[in-house]
This record gives sequence, structure tokens and C-alpha cells, in this order.
Amino acid sequence: MKALVLSGGSGTRLRPFSYSMPKQLIPIVNKPVLEHALENITALGVTDIGIIVGDWGPEIAAVLGDGSRFGARLTYLRQDRPLGLAHCVRLARPFLGDDDFVMYLGDNMLPQGIGEIAEEFRGERPAARIVVCKVPDPQAFGVAELDAEGTVLRLVEKPQQPRSDLAMIGVYFFTPAVHEAVAAIRPSARGELEITDAIQWLVTHGADVTAAEYAGYWKDTGRAEDVLECNRWLLGSIAPRVEGDVDAASELVGPVVVGPGARVVRSRITGPAIIGAGTLVEDSRIGPATSIGDHCVLRSTRVAGSIVMAGAAVSQVPALVDSLIGRGATIGPAGRGAAHHRLVIGDHSRVEVAA
Ligand code: TTP
Repeated sequence: MKALVLSGGSGTRLRPFSYSMPKQLIPIVNKPVLEHALENITALGVTDIGIIVGDWGPEIAAVLGDGSRFGARLTYLRQDRPLGLAHCVRLARPFLGDDDFVMYLGDNMLPQGIGEIAEEFRGERPAARIVVCKVPDPQAFGVAELDAEGTVLRLVEKPQQPRSDLAMIGVYFFTPAVHEAVAAIRPSARGELEITDAIQWLVTHGADVTAAEYAGYWKDTGRAEDVLECNRWLLGSIAPRVEGDVDAASELVGPVVVGPGARVVRSRITGPAIIGAGTLVEDSRIGPATSIGDHCVLRSTRVAGSIVMAGAAVSQVPALVDSLIGRGATIGPAGRGAAHHRLVIGDHSRVEVAA
């Protein structure tokens, strides 16, 4: 079995981050989302992995390299424009050949793995095995209608009146039967080749399409809130480890990771929290549910429920909560005695101030 990981797309919901980085490289517990995905795939024993990339291909390749770090061999497949998930399958045909494959959306997080579903697929080899989750708002998803055995009867993309609450999530298993389907479908009203349409084509043409209901934690990290929630969830199981330096005037409470070369000075870190390598935390209170990236500087600041990405500097901010701070960003006081905010922020940024 091969894998096809989808890491192109436009990431409009994750602006402004997606202006300067691919959303699949956003760090969750200080590790890019895409690396979490690759670990799930190699855990299946799948090592031949194609990665669909758009304009951010070079940045993604700079982080993942040839895949040897993960025990995998990566093949980068360039998609000029995000023409849809089924378009990715068309594009990857030469790479996929006649092998079965797992298709994995590079912005989806399933930290408890997909081993069981992969085993079921390998045992039964239906034309497609999709993964579904119960959601409160099925109108926003591709929705699956199943019979009692889990056979897919119908798939509808973003239905106004959903007939089930089972949403398709970002992992799909296919035999080569899918290639005929993706070749047969036409672009949808939004101009994309939809994987929902390709799978529905298989159902209509009598192919065996089954669904597995995923019982574990799943998050599509398409929006800032999702990224923060997923980070919070994953921090819930971190193993404490202190490699950096924590001075005698500081206190670590609960599970805390302090990376190599990090320094914690006169501060209190409340876990779960991670302090990245080479970061300085001084006269501050960090956590809970917070990840601070590598080489950041935090001074006289309180941060909770947040992600601060590599190289950012935050000083004299009394209460920063549920925030996502980009790489190299600076937050600090406006000047001695100033009673105003002064902002230099990028397009489509969002600032919420205590009113
Ligand atoms: P989406 O999150 O559905 O699309 P998007 O990246 O364009 O995001 P937004 O809606 O915020 O603009 O895509 C799911 C995953 O599939 C994501 O990792 C990007 C990837 N993808 C491709 O690689 N090629 C494509 O043509 C599309 C549509 C998505």
C-alpha cells in the first residue's frame, strides 16, 4: 500500500498564517501538523508516500526532506492550482500506479492513529473505505448515509437537510478502482473535482464502498480555533521532560517540557505546557495548555491556552489567552505611560482586545 498526502490547497481560513507558510506546517505541540500525519502513515508500515504540494512545495520539502527521518520515501507531486481532492488523485496516478493507497489530508489530526481501519481495509479490500465521525453540524461536511453493516448508500456534499450526522473526515482508503471514478467526474459548482463525487460514482456503479466510524479524537486544523483546541488536546498527554535550565526562583507545576537550551528564570510554568529549545522565559507565567516554540523570548508576560511560534518575542503583556502568535512576531508595550494600542499587523489578522 502507498500513501497520498494532500498538502496543497489555499488555506484561506487560516489567514494570515497561510500568507507566510503552508497551514500543514503549523506547529501542534511544537511539531508540524504534517509530521503528525506522516507518523500515522508510517505506523501502518506504509513507506512509499506521495505528497501533493502547491506553491509552498519548497518550504514543505525543506522541513520533510526525502522522508528518511520518518523511515519513509517521499515523492513530491506539484499541483499548480487547488483544483480539488479528486484532482490530486488524478495527478498522482503515475505515482500510485495500480497500488492500493491511503489518502490523507495533510491538515487533519488523528492522534490516536488509523491502524485498525487500515487493517480492515487490507482484509476486505472494498473499492473504497471512508472514515466518518459524528458531528453536530453535518451541513458543513460531506455526509454519508450507511446501512446497518456500514456499507455506504449515498454521499452528499454539504447537504441542507442532512439525513445523517456522519461526516467524512480526512482519511480514505482506495483500491485502484478509484481511478476510473476520478476520471469520470466533472468539476462541481465551486470548480473543484470533489472526492465525494468520485466516491458516489463508485457507489452508483455498484462498487463496494464501506465506512468506518472513527471513535478517537479527530480535528481538521483548518481554522485558528481548531489548531488551538487540538494543541490543548495533545498537550493533555505529554510526558514531562526538562532539558533546559530552570532557576531556583522558578516553579514547574504539572506536566511541563522544557527543551534543550531553554532558560526559565523567576517564572511559573503550569502544565501541560511546552517551552521550545533555546527559548527564554523570564518573570512570566506560562500555561496551562500552552506551546512556546523554539528561540522565543517571553518577559514579564502571562500566556495561557496559546501557541507562540518560533522566534516570537512577547514582553510585558499581562494576560494573553487562547492566542495564536506567528513566527518572529513581536508583542510589547507601546511606550512609557502609553494608554493606547499600536498595531502593525498583516492582512486578515485578527486582534481581540479587552474592552
Ligand atoms: P481544504 O482545507 O478543504 O482546502 P484549503 O486548503 O483550500 O483551505 P481553505 O478552505 O481554508 O481555503 O483542503 C484539505 C486538505 O487538502 C489540505 O491539506 C489542503 C489539501 N488540498 C490539496 O492538496 N489540493 C486541493 O486541490 C485542495 C482543494 C486541497
